[in-house]
Amino acid sequence: MRIILLGAPGAGKGTQAQFLMAKYGIPQISTGDMLRAAIKAGTELGKKAKAVMDAGQLVSDELIIGLVKERIAQDDCQGGFLLDGFPRTIPQADAMKENGVAVDSVIEFDVPDEVIVERMAGRRVHAGSGRVYHVVYNPPKVEGKDDETGEELSIRPDDEEATVRKRLSIYHEQTKPLVDYYKAEAQAGACQYLTIDGTQPVEQVSTLIAEKLG
Ligand code: AP5
Repeated sequence: MRIILLGAPGAGKGTQAQFLMAKYGIPQISTGDMLRAAIKAGTELGKKAKAVMDAGQLVSDELIIGLVKERIAQDDCQGGFLLDGFPRTIPQADAMKENGVAVDSVIEFDVPDEVIVERMAGRRVHAGSGRVYHVVYNPPKVEGKDDETGEELSIRPDDEEATVRKRLSIYHEQTKPLVDYYKAEAQAGACQYLTIDGTQPVEQVSTLIAEKLG
C-alpha cells in the first residue's frame, strides 16, 4: 500500500499518519520530521534547511527528492509507505514518476485556512517520534507530556501565526496544483484519489479514511 497524504499545513496529515501506520503496518515518511531530525543532529542538510523552514518556505526540490529516494529504497518501505509532506511541488511529483515510484492512493485533506490557523496555535509535538497533539482537540493524557514516553511536548518554531499564513500561501501557490495533477492520474487509472473532510473530529476523519480506503 503506497499512500500520499496531501493537504495544507495543519490539515491533519501527521495525525492521521499515526492511525494509518498502526492500521496498515506501513512506515510513515514525513519529510518535515526528517528535516527536523537533521536540524537536531546538526548535519549539513539540517544547516541548509533550518532558516528556510523557520521562514515557512519550502526546502529545494533537489534536497528533498534525494532524501525521499534514499528513504524509499530502505527495506521497511518495500511493502508500502505513507508519504506525509511529499510531494509538495509538481517537480517533486514528476521526479517520483520518473523514478518509477507508483502510488496506490492519494488522500486529500480538505480544511479551510482559518480553521488551520486556529489549530496551529494549539498544536504540541513530541520531537522524538513526530507524535502530534492539540491542547483542545487531541490532548495528551497528561498535560504537556507525550503519551508513550512521558517526555515533554514542544511548540514547533514555524507554528507562529505569521509563519503559518506564509506556509498557507506557499501551499496554495505550489502544492495545491497537485490536486489536479493526481486527479488526472486517477482518471488515467494510475491511482485512486480520495477527498476527506478534514474539519471533522480526529476519530471521525480516521473512520472516513478507513471506509474510503477499504
Ligand atoms: P511539515 O512538517 O511537513 O509540515 P506541514 O506539511 O506544513 O504540515 P504540518 O506537520 O504542519 O501539519 P499536518 O497536516 O501534519 O497537521 P497535524 O496532524 O500536525 O513541513 C515543515 C517544513 O518542512 C515545510 O514548511 C518546509 O519548509 C519543509 N518541507 C517538508 N517537506 C517538504 C517538501 N516535500 N518540500 C519542500 N520542503 C519541505 O495537525 C495540526 C494540528 O491540528 C495538531 O495540533 C493536531 O492535533 C490538530 N488536528 C489534527 N486533526 C484534527 C481534527 N480533525 N480536528 C481538530 N484538530 C485536529
